[in-house]
Amino acid sequence: MNDIEPGGKRYMTQLFGDQNKSGLTRELIEALFPMFEEASAGAIAVDRESRITWINSSYSQLLGLKDQASAIGRPVRQVIPETRMPEVVETGKPILLDIMEHQQQQLVVTRLPYYDEAGDIEGAVAFVLYDDLQPLTPLVSKYRRLHQDLAAARKALAKTARSTRYSLGDFVGASPGALEVKRRARLAAGREMAVLLLGETGTGKEVLAQAIHSVSSRAEKPFVGVNVAAIPDNLLEAEFFGVAPGAYTGADRKLREGKFQLANGGTLFLDEVGDMPLPLQAKLLRALQEGEVEPLGSNKVVAVDVRVIAATSRNLETMIADGSFRSDLYYRLNVLEIPIPPLRERLADIGLLCETLLWEISEGLDMRAEITDAGVAALASYDWPGNIRELRNVLERALTMSEEGGVLDADAIFKVLPRAGGRPASQAASRPIRPLAETLAAAEAQALEDALVASRGNRTKAARLLGISRSVFYEKLAKMS
Ligand SMILES: Nc1ncnc2c1ncn2[C@@H]1O[C@H](COP(=O)(O)OP(=O)(O)OP(=O)(O)O)[C@@H](O)[C@H]1O
Ligand SMILES: [Mg+2]
Repeated sequence: MNDIEPGGKRYMTQLFGDQNKSGLTRELIEALFPMFEEASAGAIAVDRESRITWINSSYSQLLGLKDQASAIGRPVRQVIPETRMPEVVETGKPILLDIMEHQQQQLVVTRLPYYDEAGDIEGAVAFVLYDDLQPLTPLVSKYRRLHQDLAAARKALAKTARSTRYSLGDFVGASPGALEVKRRARLAAGREMAVLLLGETGTGKEVLAQAIHSVSSRAEKPFVGVNVAAIPDNLLEAEFFGVAPGAYTGADRKLREGKFQLANGGTLFLDEVGDMPLPLQAKLLRALQEGEVEPLGSNKVVAVDVRVIAATSRNLETMIADGSFRSDLYYRLNVLEIPIPPLRERLADIGLLCETLLWEISEGLDMRAEITDAGVAALASYDWPGNIRELRNVLERALTMSEEGGVLDADAIFKVLPRAGGRPASQAASRPIRPLAETLAAAEAQALEDALVASRGNRTKAARLLGISRSVFYEKLAKMS
């Protein structure tokens, strides 16, 4: 007890007037401190530099210290990384009640500064009030419940509030091609201009569109995506511009807002814009030029302020040449063009991508997923018509089939890598029997992927190969990913 003087003259002066010159402060503290110390589950003191000057044996046991004496003189954070005592010493403000998590224990602690004769901070003391939360269970469980509710509400909000999942860091890649994409995306984010993203299927157009929005000045406003190819032609206009009340038999009594109105103030992402029928292209151009839209069945226009990011996997210039895409709309959308290179042109990024994708895949599973250098080299031998989406699927499949506790080597990759001319031979032999619904779903997913590979990522062609409509194809694709 001799090497510290907890408490503070300032407090004592207020309580007892100036009699502390007689040494009352010290006596009082010395009288009170042992009581406090004994009642608590641990006590510790630090000096002005937040070095431990004293620690009692119950605290040192609680912390699992082998040698109580060796803690003296060490910075307190070295011994208790989670402590906030340095903060108390710096600010002079006590932290009266706090829950500190230390090696799976939850300790309820109180931390107080103490002062020297001149009234300057000399250090801090802390007491562990409870070393198990049992007595506080009702309080803590209420706190936990509130915490969980908050997390759930935030998640739901992020989903429904038309906000984005991706930011620029999510566009993984360090190859020159990837860096150029990110450079342009940053450029786009800083301005209001229309952006056109060009890239094959699965190259990250959606990721990039969301990323641009989330670093732009509209980040707090809605991000609304509309996949032109996924919506039947006859519904597109209503989807874009909304429907006036009672516009047609069966229409709602209330105004139904279109994507333009929903995106007002924010960003409208026109995905697969190359699939837009010509009549709607004219209406879209007008909406963009005038900054206003006319809901279906209404004769009033509504002003809208949207920033447009469009994307397509088709060659718009060829489409202009054959008359299926309007050149005036093209120039309106293509103020800044960002071509996203296919994965086969940036194979150097595969290692980095694997790291991210494996981490994402294994996050939900109770496993650790890794890939060896040979595994990465195996992946680089393929040409990836389905790009990063396909890479993700391949890794997922390889993990499901791997037995080595989640470490993928070249063999594990070759087993699942699609090869020219058909399915990998090894799959047929020892396939486990699964419920019919699962088997059918897997077969469907496989068929979709095969069609994409065969059409080199052209989804209109892939849908045709499968004998289904484009919108059905998209629906099924969306279910898969
Ligand atoms: N650069 C990247 N870094 C990390 N993940 C990526 C990257 N690009 C794409 N992905 C992942 O690949 C998948 C497909 O990406 P996305 O949906 O953005 O592609 P897309 O170009 O819009 O494809 P599609 O034309 O088929 O709609 C997603 O799971 C996404 O998270
Ligand atoms: Mg997309």
